[in-house]
Amino acid sequence: MTERTYENILVETRPGSGANALSYGWITLNRPKALNALNDGLMDELGEALLAFDADDTVACIVVTGSEKAFAAGADILVMHPFDFPNAFRKGLISRNWDTIRQVRKPIIAAVSGFALGGGCEVAMACDFIIAADNARFGQPEIKLGIIPGAGGTQRLPRAVGKSKAMDLALTGRMMDATEAERAGLVSRVVPLAELHAEATKAAEAMCGYSLLALMATKESVDRAFESPLSEGLLFERRLFHALFSSADQKEGMGAFLEKRAPGFTHR
Ligand code: CAA
Repeated sequence: MTERTYENILVETRPGSGANALSYGWITLNRPKALNALNDGLMDELGEALLAFDADDTVACIVVTGSEKAFAAGADILVMHPFDFPNAFRKGLISRNWDTIRQVRKPIIAAVSGFALGGGCEVAMACDFIIAADNARFGQPEIKLGIIPGAGGTQRLPRAVGKSKAMDLALTGRMMDATEAERAGLVSRVVPLAELHAEATKAAEAMCGYSLLALMATKESVDRAFESPLSEGLLFERRLFHALFSSADQKEGMGAFLEKRAPGFTHR
């Protein structure tokens, strides 16, 4: 990946562990004074870094994290305050650079500690799964600002936690702690704060040892579950499942199992 200095994020490529392992991307949201409030500069950079990792054949997956105190406390209220409708509409407020994350075909893990509020919760939900520290707090407090969630909060949250809890959070603006978020299905695992990065690393390293084709096909197929009726989703899955039998990685993965050795995937 081309080295580039960013102003609002920190970006690293980290090696996976084990022979033949791919690398993984590590992106830290880094506007500490504003609790990582998401302004245009940060979202442009996040999109650019995600797309660069997505295009890098040596990278299997990406971790997005924030600080201990805040994954991100939402879209930048200082920036949004003066907008009127014509400007919001014409300039694509909270859309143009926020939608980039949806173009990424490799798995993205959100490693969340502290506040993940408003746009922060929405960015975490746009990732593929969330690992939370025990101090994480999720919420859609836009109602307190006289607006509604604008980056998927009213759509992804009910899909993740069901209608009742999504309505509760978006209508009252209350925060949900990590335990409640795990119970509700928003996050996949909760770990002590001190172990968050190690846990995200472990998950990323596991993926670095797998076939990139299979990782990307898995992501595409699970995402399809939210876009199609069951019969169409099952057909889509079956087509991808059959397609993978034309890959060298399928022969290698199954061959290695039968020969009782570790597989060496070539991502072909
Ligand atoms: N935008 C801009 N600045 C923000 C911010 C945000 N979303 N969240 C926090 N900050 C700034 C604060 O203004 C403060 O700056 P100053 O030091 O210059 O005063 C700094 O970050 C630290 O914040 P606090 O002093 O408020 O810290 P706290 O620990 O007392 O409270 C908090 C933390 C509860 C997260 C509180 O900061 C807060 O409520 N933030 C706003 C949360 C919010 O409403 N998010 C939704 C935004 S709208 C949105 O995201 C729309 C969408 O759907 C995309």
